[in-house]
Amino acid sequence: MNNRKLAVLLSGRGSNFIAMYEAIQRGDLDASICCVISNVPEAAGLRKAREFGLVTHCIPSKNLQREEYDRKLVATLRPHDPALVCLAGFMRILSPVMIRAFPRRILNIHPALLPSFPGLHAQRQALQYGVKVTGCTVHFADEGVDTGPVILQRTVEVLEGDDEGSLSARILEQEHQAYWRAIASVLDAMGSAACGTR
Ligand code: GRF
Repeated sequence: MNNRKLAVLLSGRGSNFIAMYEAIQRGDLDASICCVISNVPEAAGLRKAREFGLVTHCIPSKNLQREEYDRKLVATLRPHDPALVCLAGFMRILSPVMIRAFPRRILNIHPALLPSFPGLHAQRQALQYGVKVTGCTVHFADEGVDTGPVILQRTVEVLEGDDEGSLSARILEQEHQAYWRAIASVLDAMGSAACGTR
């Protein structure tokens, strides 16, 4: 399979998207970004995507039911024919409409070692629980919240005196290494499957 196109969905600063973009620019990740979509018009990540000259779409989610929103999302994504849809800080729970449109082709990154600490404020949850090791997880998105098969994880030690900010920053460094590597391995596996060389 030669399609190595990525669609990126984000809602905020977009540092994972930027790390992905930079990995492509360096030649570490053999892929291209076909579009960047945000539900937040003023998202810094969306602005950055425009600066990079990428195709962007803003689909505001205000006043829309989850399924209604996801139908718009699917309709926007389809013409781009992405191999993978990469959630990079996309702050919406996907409905079955979206998940079933791209089965096993939607990836997410989460700032904890799933299945520990799913949902919001994963770093705060880890600190409150008192774990000594946490990290990040890249996984396939399924119909649950932060469930779905794990693709890659990286660990981060929780240090004495860590607060949410310091721990989040160290986890983020690992996220930026993990996401593009996970994407590369999934694209490679999809390519091998398509060639029947598995
Ligand atoms: C990251 O911590 C990611 O794990 C989580 O949302 C955050 C997005 O950060 N899903 P950024 O927008 O990529 O900088």
